[in-house]
Amino acid sequence: MSKLIARSNKPVSGDVSVPGDKSISHRALMLSTLAVGRSEVTGLLEGEDVMATAAAMRAMGATINRLGEGHYEVFGVGVGGLLEPDNIIDMGNSGTSTRLLMGLVASHDITVTMTGDASLRSRPMGRVIDPLTQMGAQITARDARFLPVMTEGTPEALPIDYTPPVASAQVKSAILLAGLNTLGETVVREETATRDHTERMLTAMGARLHIEEDGTGRIIRLQGLPELSPVSFQVPGDISSAAFLMVAASIVVGSDVTLRRVGLNPLRTGIVSALLSMGADIQIGNETTLGGEPVGDIHVRAASLKGTSNIGVDPSTMIDEFPVLFCAAAVAEGTSHFMGLRELRVKESDRLAAMAKGLASCGVTVEETPDGLTVHGMGGKIPGGGLVETHLDHRIAMAFSVLGQVAETPIIIDDAAPIQTSFPSFIDLMTGLGAGLLLDG
Ligand code: S3P
Repeated sequence: MSKLIARSNKPVSGDVSVPGDKSISHRALMLSTLAVGRSEVTGLLEGEDVMATAAAMRAMGATINRLGEGHYEVFGVGVGGLLEPDNIIDMGNSGTSTRLLMGLVASHDITVTMTGDASLRSRPMGRVIDPLTQMGAQITARDARFLPVMTEGTPEALPIDYTPPVASAQVKSAILLAGLNTLGETVVREETATRDHTERMLTAMGARLHIEEDGTGRIIRLQGLPELSPVSFQVPGDISSAAFLMVAASIVVGSDVTLRRVGLNPLRTGIVSALLSMGADIQIGNETTLGGEPVGDIHVRAASLKGTSNIGVDPSTMIDEFPVLFCAAAVAEGTSHFMGLRELRVKESDRLAAMAKGLASCGVTVEETPDGLTVHGMGGKIPGGGLVETHLDHRIAMAFSVLGQVAETPIIIDDAAPIQTSFPSFIDLMTGLGAGLLLDG
């Protein structure tokens, strides 16, 4: 287990691209497996999570060839054409791979058993087991809700009309993916809209999808058994990865960073609004569309951040960025109250507990509540000196790497390995911009 030492060094400055979007990369591989023919993907994130999806799709019949950095061709098997893998599939740390693949398998005549690392084995799967069981799959899970999970799909799945009890793009996508090989109309009703990458890609591939908003939320209707056309996907940069650089550039005095071609899907940009409402200096330029998704360049300069009790963010636009936003709040002037974030307890780690403990170990006063955190900002530098436990969670490791850039005493992160799941170039990219990060061991 390599430790990572995060210490203040220089301002972070430069012009960089962040790796491809994780959510879009997973979906590009899965959906091109369901097309008949050759699809091409460029800008694919080559992190461990996405590679777990690639391995699973190969085990189910896809041919996936790497043509260059982030450049892949996929020969799909068509909707209904997935094959049964001859072994258990290890999904590593990836909740998105696991939940979306359970959806795919649910409406195929195959049985697939999945497991994962200790973090993934502790994450709730009931949220996908319930709707997929209603569609006719038979799912056996440890304690009825944890991995390992065996999904016995059915070739005669039933379409459902489902309102997920939690706002989750993974749950929505699992149902829509199951709905592809299901006769009739599958409907998902979202009270809170979540990232819509699956819907955008399916539409681009020729699926019949109808989306409407009514007073109660967003309704997505999918007609089953489409023929999906192979396409060329260009994956934009991941705003959830860019978030670490945005906060680093905001809090380290004298910083100036430009992030190129970052995905700006309006259901993902909450971090920009949150930082702006705290007084960040952020400008968006060169806005265009890439692979059916809005993208643009994000220019961030250091600014004095103010704590906030009302971050002015629509909850459907931000989730994975909270750990690093808590770090921004720790550096800001004044107290920030974050509420309504119970979901953070069931991510790769319990992110409220991990962040509260890590921040406290760095000399920041924090109070943890059942659904949020109160962070008392230090108005500039933080004492640091903590030993942070990452609990197999990449975003905890990267959040404290950023906080270390303004620490009086270096912060030690107990395990750098989880960073490989979503942002393998993180340490190189950060140090290239001037950050102080050193692997130890
Ligand atoms: C994701 C959805 C979110 C997010 C995760 C990726 C996706 O999870 O936290 O990192 O790609 O659909 P939930 O659906 O659990 O909110």
